[in-house]
Order: sequence, then structure tokens, then C-alpha cells
Amino acid sequence: MEKDIAKVLLSEEQIQNRVREMGAQIARDYEGKNPAMVCILKGAVMFYTDLLRAIPIKLTMDFMAVSSYGKHTKSSGEVEIRKDLSTSIENRHVIIVEDIIDSGFTLTYLTRMLAARGASSIAIATLLDKPSRRAPGITLKSDYYGFEVGNEFVVGYGLDYAETYRNLPYIGVLKPEIYENN
Ligand code: IMP
Ligand code: MG
Repeated sequence: MEKDIAKVLLSEEQIQNRVREMGAQIARDYEGKNPAMVCILKGAVMFYTDLLRAIPIKLTMDFMAVSSYGKHTKSSGEVEIRKDLSTSIENRHVIIVEDIIDSGFTLTYLTRMLAARGASSIAIATLLDKPSRRAPGITLKSDYYGFEVGNEFVVGYGLDYAETYRNLPYIGVLKPEIYENN
């Protein structure tokens, strides 16, 4: 697996330090609000479990799965709900926890959907943000983000290429020949 990685972009230590800072900030902002923390499977799972352990206030956990790129490295703009929440978010302060914002389609869609279900507020916490890649007309911004990344396809710490590399403990850039040969 490691031989497919061209370079390490964010080390385990860099990720852990930043995630702890984000957790402290969310704890300050949401103390007493019992936020509903929504994990977007599967990409956000590593970030979610580390982030939540860095937020020392009362909160609840729930999970959603949405369609991903599959083997393609560009978003289709379509979002399909594959697994829905198991609890109501009506009158709740929701924080959507996502791995990365790229075109912004996924979170624009999810934010509207959860707002329509009566959430009191909705915020977005994303580990990575690629602001240069927003699709035309998408104005979405993250409320909490870990790192900005450029126009590179990254894997590891939950992020995949064709369902592989999620278990790398750091975030790396894949060698171009890996996806060019597919
Ligand atoms: P968006 O709807 O274009 O913002 O896409 C967000 C989703 O695309 C993320 O949840 C990821 O699953 C996937 N994605 C975007 N960029 C990358 C990347 O560099 N590596 C791995 N997955 C990515
Ligand atoms: Mg994802």
C-alpha cells in the first residue's frame, strides 16, 4: 500500500494536533447545546472518532452514508442517501462531520436536507477543504476545517481511492500512475 504514495501531505502528528484544536473550539462554541454530531460515512470515520474524543461536552452521535465517487476522481454532482440517520434532528444543533469539501455538492445537498427536517442550526466540520475546486454557483463554506489542500487527489485517514487506502494513518498524495492505469 505505502509504495503507491508519492508523498505524505499531513503526518499523523499534524493531523492529531489540529484535530485536538478543532475539538477544543467546538467544545467552547457548543457547551450546553448538546450538539448532534453527524458522521458522513465512510470517509469521515477516522476524523469523527478522533474529533469527538477531543470534545469534552455532552453530545450525541449518528451516521449517514451518501454516494461517493466510486472509481472516479471527479464528482458527478449527484448525491444519493445510502444510509439515513437513526435519530431525529428536529430542534437539534447539528454538526455535520465530513472528510473533505471538494465541489461542495455533497454538503450543499445535505445541509438543505437537514435544514428541511427542522434542525435548529447546522454547522460543517471538515478535516480538509479544497476551496479552489468549488463548482460554479456553490457558495458553501465550512464552519470548522482542519487544513486547506490544493488541487491534488489525497488518500488516507479515511479518504479512499476506489475504496482503498482508508487505513493509512496519515494523508498522502497518490502516485498519478495508480489512477491513470484504471
Ligand atoms: P464534493 O461533493 O465534490 O464536495 O465531494 C466530497 C466527497 O468527494 C468527499 O466526501 C470525498 O468522498 C470525495 N473526495 C473529494 N476529493 C477527494 C480526494 O482528494 N480524495 C478522496 N476523496 C475525495
Ligand atoms: Mg466522502
